[in-house]
Amino acid sequence: MGPSTASLDDFRAILGPAGVLAGTEAGDRYLRDWAGDYRGRALAVLRPKSVAEVQAVMCLCRDRQLPVMPIGGNTGLVAGAVVRRDDTATPVILSLERLNRIREVNPVDFTLRADAGCILQTLKEAAEAVDCLLPLSLGAQGSCQVGGNAATNAGGVNVLRYGMARDLILGLEVVLPDGTLWSGMSGLRKDNRGYDLKQLFIGSEGTLGIITGVEMKLVPRPARIETAYLGLASFADAITLLARARHGCADLMTAFEVIGAECIPYARSAHPDLALPVTAPVHVLIEVSCSGALDLRSMVESFLAEAMEAGLVGEAVLAASEAQARAFWRIREGLVEGQMRSGYHMRTDLSVRPSRIPALVDAARGYLAANHPDWTAQAYGHAGDGNLHFNAMPPATLDEAAARATGLAIETALFAIVTEAGGSISAEHGIGRTRRDRFWTGLAPVDKRMFVAIKTGLDPDGLMNPGCVIPREEMTA
Ligand code: FAD
Ligand code: LAC
Ligand code: ZN
Repeated sequence: MGPSTASLDDFRAILGPAGVLAGTEAGDRYLRDWAGDYRGRALAVLRPKSVAEVQAVMCLCRDRQLPVMPIGGNTGLVAGAVVRRDDTATPVILSLERLNRIREVNPVDFTLRADAGCILQTLKEAAEAVDCLLPLSLGAQGSCQVGGNAATNAGGVNVLRYGMARDLILGLEVVLPDGTLWSGMSGLRKDNRGYDLKQLFIGSEGTLGIITGVEMKLVPRPARIETAYLGLASFADAITLLARARHGCADLMTAFEVIGAECIPYARSAHPDLALPVTAPVHVLIEVSCSGALDLRSMVESFLAEAMEAGLVGEAVLAASEAQARAFWRIREGLVEGQMRSGYHMRTDLSVRPSRIPALVDAARGYLAANHPDWTAQAYGHAGDGNLHFNAMPPATLDEAAARATGLAIETALFAIVTEAGGSISAEHGIGRTRRDRFWTGLAPVDKRMFVAIKTGLDPDGLMNPGCVIPREEMTA
């Protein structure tokens, strides 16, 4: 059932003609997920320009009992902003893209307040302009929105030092499903007045309300950054190096990314001109930074010399210029791009205690080699945070439907392995629709009760992003 012409006209009356896209106007930008795994559908795409317009839209949706699915930059990797074919509800998509004003950059309080639709990269540049750093960094930062980052509790490559989005968000502004505006952007660093309500919305993946404003913490912009690309023998050595690096680099490490050498061909497929600094089986990309005038270079050099002497690091290249540091990061970002370009593949976002990363890699590689030897393992990730992206590329000869079926079986086995290791099936990407059923099946009854209580308390009509995170049938049970 589509919205009646009358309701589209009602939305146009609130948002103006450019604020409502219907029929073929709503293209892939809104209907297809970034990885191309799903193609969804929508009654219409609504593009409010102000918080008041978001409120009016939500009131109208509540009156008409229309489900609403918020969308930010549409870079999410778990189908949080795209309905699946088996979803019964067809929502209106509420895009935040036109709600994109920077409200305040405050270098005295070290805060940045912005509309939820601002692109993360734009906000990082605004922070830089006042000699500050907004320390949330991820490969999708040129497209994802800060509201999406809050809604997914995004992680990225600097979690080691600065934490996840949750650790960086000082305040939020949210339009509740009934159109009420909740403003929680006081700018206070310390505020212990009862429940910290913003935490409910961080990581809620559009299921509790529409985030319209975000207040982020800033830090002084680093004056010194050292970036090193290392070649190691194994993931076990990488984890031994991690603790040593934290001590050896005065706990100033901002990134510790690990890449299995098997990922390099995909980085190369994205960037054929790629110059590889090392040849070892495991690559580690380290970034160390500080805002003061410390002699970071000497510190990193002597740490690396010790690590090489101890036999932990076989090859090491310390970037001689910003351009070389960027080239190192291009390898890390390129492998994701190359994998995505190659078409369907099985992706995971696993989390264990960092010390368990080597055992997890061994178990995952061992499972794949024993059961699906024609698939190619891809192990990389934010190992400093215990976050492994273990992906598997199907053989080129397999047709997509068969690859997807096998991919699901591989995923099931990996989830069992990570659960056995006391880990999580979602480190940073969230649950969305892709991980929903496995997530929900694994939840304890007491967790389920609290999830449903929070959801029904804030969204009693079940209109916010139905089918995302919580199975719909749980809401009617
Ligand atoms: P979308 O994809 O549009 O939406 C994601 C979810 O948030 C959906 O459930 C949606 O309904 C909800 N939502 C969006 N905006 C709002 C809002 N204003 N109010 C309420 N709900 C909302 N993620 C990481 O954590 N770490 C990484 O290192 C990382 N690297 C990536 C690299 C690449 C190349 C790509 C493509 C993705 C990567 N991601 C990573 C995943 C993704 O970028 C993040 O999840 C990001 O935070 C999503 O932001 P978005 O604006 O694109 O949200
Ligand atoms: C990354 C994304 C996929 O770390 O989370 O590259
Ligand atoms: Zn990641």
